[in-house]
Amino acid sequence: MLRVTMVPRSTSSDQTSSFPAPADADVAVRQRVQELRRLLTEASYAYYVLDAPIMEDSVYDQLYRELQDLETHHPDLITPDSPTQRVGEKPATQFTSVQHAVPLYSLENAFNLEEFTNWQGRWQRVLGAQAGGDRSPSIPQMGGVREVDGSAPDESGQPAPTRLTLPDYVCELKIDGSALALTYEDGVLVRGATRGDGTMGEEITQNVRTIRSIPLRLQVEKPPRRVEVRGEAFLPLTVFDQINQERKAEGLPLFANPRNAAAGTLRQLDSRIVADRKLDFFAYTLHILDEAVDLPPTQWDCLELLQRFGFRVNPERQRCQGLEAVRDYYDRWATARFQLPYLTDGVVVKLNSLALQEQLGFTQKFPRWAVALKYPAEEAPTKVERVVVQVGRTGALTPVAEFQSVQLAGTTVSRASLHNRDRLLELDLHLGDTVVVRKAGEIIPEVVRVLPELRPPQAERVVLPDRCPECGEPVVQPAGEAVTRCVNASCPAIVRGALVHWASRDALDINGLGEKLVQQLVAAQLVQSVADLYQLEAEPLAQLERLGQKSAQKLVQAIAASKQKPWSRVLYGLGIRHVGSVNAQALAAAFPDVTQLATASVDAIAAVYGIGPEIAQSVYEWFQIPANQHLIERLQAAGVQLQAAKGQIAPASNPTLAGKTFVITGTLPTLTREEAKALIQAAGGKVTESVSRKTHYLVVGENAGSKLTKAQGLGIPCLTEADLLALMGDVDR
Ligand code: IVH
Repeated sequence: MLRVTMVPRSTSSDQTSSFPAPADADVAVRQRVQELRRLLTEASYAYYVLDAPIMEDSVYDQLYRELQDLETHHPDLITPDSPTQRVGEKPATQFTSVQHAVPLYSLENAFNLEEFTNWQGRWQRVLGAQAGGDRSPSIPQMGGVREVDGSAPDESGQPAPTRLTLPDYVCELKIDGSALALTYEDGVLVRGATRGDGTMGEEITQNVRTIRSIPLRLQVEKPPRRVEVRGEAFLPLTVFDQINQERKAEGLPLFANPRNAAAGTLRQLDSRIVADRKLDFFAYTLHILDEAVDLPPTQWDCLELLQRFGFRVNPERQRCQGLEAVRDYYDRWATARFQLPYLTDGVVVKLNSLALQEQLGFTQKFPRWAVALKYPAEEAPTKVERVVVQVGRTGALTPVAEFQSVQLAGTTVSRASLHNRDRLLELDLHLGDTVVVRKAGEIIPEVVRVLPELRPPQAERVVLPDRCPECGEPVVQPAGEAVTRCVNASCPAIVRGALVHWASRDALDINGLGEKLVQQLVAAQLVQSVADLYQLEAEPLAQLERLGQKSAQKLVQAIAASKQKPWSRVLYGLGIRHVGSVNAQALAAAFPDVTQLATASVDAIAAVYGIGPEIAQSVYEWFQIPANQHLIERLQAAGVQLQAAKGQIAPASNPTLAGKTFVITGTLPTLTREEAKALIQAAGGKVTESVSRKTHYLVVGENAGSKLTKAQGLGIPCLTEADLLALMGDVDR
């Protein structure tokens, strides 16, 4: 226990300057600085980690100011582990990428105890296989961890024939935050990094220093040379609520949940903001990168050691022998977790023995020795107030339920998509119904079921309208589809959607042309199709509300600049159903000119690597519609790129064809020579004119001539068109 009163006080810089002769003063200052650091660190540890304060706030503040003063006068004495270094620094411009010394794996999920049992069976089989036998997974000694005498001697006094061994697990709560990797060298925190992709993270040391429950120096006499600590940074629920209240007052968008808020805070460039946000941290993994020091033998011991190092380790951890004990722990926390001051979404079960962990190792993504046993998504009942119908870019009508807001998975939810007509029928939703809404972490909220027993009398059934709520035209219900559509090409909702999509980042990327402006342009009838954008002049634009001369000019320039965007983006921007950005790249590479694509058969389109029959049909049909053909003509006239520029074709490489050289000879049954060539190139292959030893395949059609003879002579494999298409399609088709 600290005895603060025994500390000689000097609280102002005046007193600091009254130290005696220089040499003595140096020693005295140094000693005092060390003393203050020790006191402040101990007090902070007691407050933030142990949750057992040992010092009055006012005393802490006084000592802190004294240290600050001394450091201001003697900056050479400042060290990175000084408590004054936690306050945050001026903004950084960006974070740098760093490689993790030990990768950060994520965890396999089990969504119920059955899946957990399967996971257990799997690691037991792996151990069994490693032991060289094909022992049944039920043979218990494969847990190999701690022998428990499973059965008492029977009545005859004979000892039980088998000895049961239950796997020795550590159960920890799965904290819903953001993983951090901390590096300590000679006991001092030298680096803090985000998880990133597990191999590379972002260096956020300055932000990490602001987290009070992370020690700046390990609390041991002789720390290992290098230590890596992993754990979860999180925002306590009260802090999360407070932050969102403040943001609401400032008109800023709210954080969806504490996890997003924690992740967003850690990536703040201004660590002074991070210091304000009061993040917390639980440590759960220890790596010692020092050959002279051994890790303790178990995860349990590692957690204890982490605690001795000065970390907060979650106090709800528990050793659990076997499935039943895990079940008890999991069941207990299923409800008890809601009393905790932070969010948890499951239990992490780890094999306790580090030797076993090492033996089991990792799959591509996960450790075999740990699993996240998740709790089901959170559900809550609420009352539906109204159903609005939205019309999307493709004309699809989406009913959206608006209900009394409920708290789910740490967020406030007040609306959820009802998807389509079929889902409405299935739910049999009536206005005023009480429904059960579900949301799990980041998953979009959904209406799970209706509670008809709570339905008010004479409640009206919710059905989709016969007419589009935007343009009033009749809607259609295409055969075999659940979607109800407005097919009026000039429906303002469809036009707006098409424009927003055209201007979006992966399409033509037109800066400044967002949803709001699009709405204004369409309402003012300045634009009815994406081609109209290229006719816009600054003058009428400047008349629009909140735009002005300068912004209008900028917009016209941004639209003009979009004419330089490559053909693949234009193709994506056209918004053809099923043509995402990746498909558009593959198609643009295979058909480097819009005319080739517009005149291609469904088969030729479907022959492109990665393009399935449904996509091909959709593309084919799009180009058959006269209004779309007219749009292409207008875009062409405006100077938009509808051809690939030289060298712009990025092959969507097919492992079978990539790098191979082809020669085509004779007339192919369905593809023109150019089409076949484009397809091969799109898949990463090369097409040359003459057969040589370097040719990998000869594609042969009718009336093939001398090339065939030469290829046969050289033993080069010959392909028909069908063979070629099969080769292209043999991956994922
Ligand atoms: S152990 C290889 N323990 O959950 C070991 N992770 O879904 C991997 N998490 O990325 C991590 N609480 O960010 C572990 N007690 C706990 C945890 C925990 C939360 C997070 C962690 C991880 C994610 C995996």
